[in-house]
Amino acid sequence: MNFKRFDTLSWKIVGFSLTSLALTAAILLVGYYGTSLLIWLNPSRSFWGVKLLRWVINNIGSTPIVILMGIPLFIFFILKLSRNTTSNLHNISSGVQAIADGNLSFKVPVTGTDELGKLAENMNLMAGKLKSAIEEERAAAKAKNDLITDVSHDLRTPLTSVLGFLEYVENDRYKNEVELRYYVNIAYEKSLALKKLIDDLFEYTRVSSSGLPLNLKPVDLGKLLEQLVEEFAPVLKQADMSYRIHTDKDPLIIHGDADELVRLYENLFTNAVRYGKEGKILDISVYRTDDRVIATCTNYGNPIPATDLPHLFKRFYRVDKSRSRETGGSGLGLAIAKSITELHGGMISAKSSRKQTEFETSFPASE
Ligand SMILES: Nc1ncnc2c1ncn2[C@@H]1O[C@H](COP(=O)(O)OP(=O)(O)O)[C@@H](O)[C@H]1O
Ligand SMILES: [Mg+2]
Repeated sequence: MNFKRFDTLSWKIVGFSLTSLALTAAILLVGYYGTSLLIWLNPSRSFWGVKLLRWVINNIGSTPIVILMGIPLFIFFILKLSRNTTSNLHNISSGVQAIADGNLSFKVPVTGTDELGKLAENMNLMAGKLKSAIEEERAAAKAKNDLITDVSHDLRTPLTSVLGFLEYVENDRYKNEVELRYYVNIAYEKSLALKKLIDDLFEYTRVSSSGLPLNLKPVDLGKLLEQLVEEFAPVLKQADMSYRIHTDKDPLIIHGDADELVRLYENLFTNAVRYGKEGKILDISVYRTDDRVIATCTNYGNPIPATDLPHLFKRFYRVDKSRSRETGGSGLGLAIAKSITELHGGMISAKSSRKQTEFETSFPASE
């Protein structure tokens, strides 16, 4: 027999009522026979208590006495028996009040497995979910604020120097045409860097918002990278670099948005050219493990210090601030790469030794 079916509030109320009724009846019965015994033991009515009892029975009658005593007894037992249940109800009600007052860490004690126990359990669950949702919301608001602070700083620096050089020109503070051209050229270069920063920023906010719609299709990551690096050949040539690509023969299919994946690897390739020029070679390798497709992108020389590795994927993080500025980086490339990877359910990591720096992306393989 399944007793769980009876572990409900309605059955508890039935149980409490029947038990209280039985207890009341038992006490009344004991009272009745007790009284009869007393009267029988003391027929001479010498004891004053027995006199009183006889008077009551003769003048009021036993039925009203049974009712008069039975009702308070029944109420007493039912209150006693249901004390646990009412205290659970009380706990739940104070829990609701605490949660309504914003104390989301409040835990309603869960006792029993009836509806009240389940209600308490669900309330704790709800408060927990609400708490993490609010914390997430707060973190997002803080991230947005921090981003605005970082961005205003990073936009102001190049803009100040553009304005400075244009002011020279505007106020005719140049000696000859050569100097004029020099100032204009610097202002132009800085404006280009500014535009690149704004483009990256736009890209970063676009891919780091969780709701970015992806146009997911089966993509052969090996083929995609072969094609992309081929398109990259002129850039590599200009940097006096060459590439080697090794892809497994098996299909290396993942579920992905090809345009976004191109953006991800463009960032890695651009970095390899920017920071690994001295190593002369960009190595790309795509292979499959049990259930993942892995692509690595390796360049040689210019190691990243171990202390910088954990921060590399944070937005605006640059290993060598002055050098990166010189090379025109915004510090957003790897943050963009990370967001795109994670949007695809993938992982990205970096390893760097004196010999080589390797970025690895891994995605769930799709059959
Ligand atoms: N392939 C690489 N080799 C060496 N250092 C790298 C490489 N890729 C990235 N880095 C370092 O990581 C920093 C962050 O990269 P990224 O987010 O793309 O920003 P940036 O705009 O500076 O290129 C770079 O400034 C650079 O110092
Ligand atoms: Mg970069």
